[in-house]
Amino acid sequence: MTNLPLQKNNRNFQLKIGNVVLKSPVMLAPMAGITDLPYRQLIRKYSKNSLLTTEMISSEMLMQNRKDGGKILENKENDFPLSYQLSGHKPKMMADAAKKLMQMERKPSIIDINMGCPVRKVVCGGDGSALMRTPDIAADIVKAIKDTVDIPVSVKFRLGYTSGEMNFMEFAKLMEQSGADSITIHCRTRSQMYSGSADWQAISGIKKEINIPLFANGDITTPQKAKECLEITGADAIAVGRATLGAPDLIHRIEQYLLTGEDIEQADIKTKINLAIEHLNAEVDFRGVKNAIPFMRKFYPYYIKGLPNAAALRGKLMSSSDYDVIVDELHKISQDL
Ligand SMILES: Cc1cc2nc3c(=O)[nH]c(=O)nc-3n(C[C@H](O)[C@H](O)[C@H](O)COP(=O)(O)O)c2cc1C
Repeated sequence: MTNLPLQKNNRNFQLKIGNVVLKSPVMLAPMAGITDLPYRQLIRKYSKNSLLTTEMISSEMLMQNRKDGGKILENKENDFPLSYQLSGHKPKMMADAAKKLMQMERKPSIIDINMGCPVRKVVCGGDGSALMRTPDIAADIVKAIKDTVDIPVSVKFRLGYTSGEMNFMEFAKLMEQSGADSITIHCRTRSQMYSGSADWQAISGIKKEINIPLFANGDITTPQKAKECLEITGADAIAVGRATLGAPDLIHRIEQYLLTGEDIEQADIKTKINLAIEHLNAEVDFRGVKNAIPFMRKFYPYYIKGLPNAAALRGKLMSSSDYDVIVDELHKISQDL
């Protein structure tokens, strides 16, 4: 069992997370409001082996059986390997939520714990990156979930809460001691939110201190950047989030580059427009046309980026609430290319 993502012709790449064997060094980073089932299916169209992730699922919401909670859990057979991310700060509730996930027909491959979300509402409740300030609670959450499920448990966190509290090294060790099977680090602090650039260098020494797999995360936008990030951080694998917007082929391109050295061209603009149509139709099937239309608005700017008349097109796509008008517009763009 080895993991050598930087070697060319390393087609037999394997990375063991507990008892789950990943065949890809790239995972989709969890993104609330983005990485739902239709989005993951678009990624899967290109990348067969990457670890996919759900959006963050509030343990509290899950235990309250909120009506809208069901959709977030849906999966398909080809979604796997699939990690379910839980948020919360109450060890017992987190463990109960994990148990509930294990009752699904198709169970998660991995349960991930959100200890990195910087959003005010989340941290004010003690969830997300606030847990980096309460490491004892964070440790209890990992232990409670580990005691409840028989699948691997991973933790995603940041460098620290502020630049004066960069406790990622101790935190990583504590997570490992508490039973975490892997960690993902977004190389920013909570205070940075998403500003500045990810500091890959900061975590370069961490692999010497822990024995579980490390996923490096933050600002990986191209196959070349992915390689650079792995070289700098010494991580076993990487997680890619925002750069997959409008580019569902990116994870596959990164995999190919890391594993074979082949630099595949990105999908051309016509293909991207057709992907936008596919995405829209999948969202309509998934959440109904009334909800899908406003939901899709955040994605169009990424799909049409680079077109000479992108600003005008964006206006048209964003202002209509009529499915036929939007699809016609997208078809027209595609035909004109
Ligand atoms: C819209 C959005 C939603 C996000 N939601 C989550 C989430 O639910 N859970 C989580 O751990 N991180 C979440 N993140 C953070 C990403 O997983 C990732 O750590 C961050 O975007 C940095 O990686 P990137 O530069 O590859 O995007 C979110 C980021 C964005 C932009």
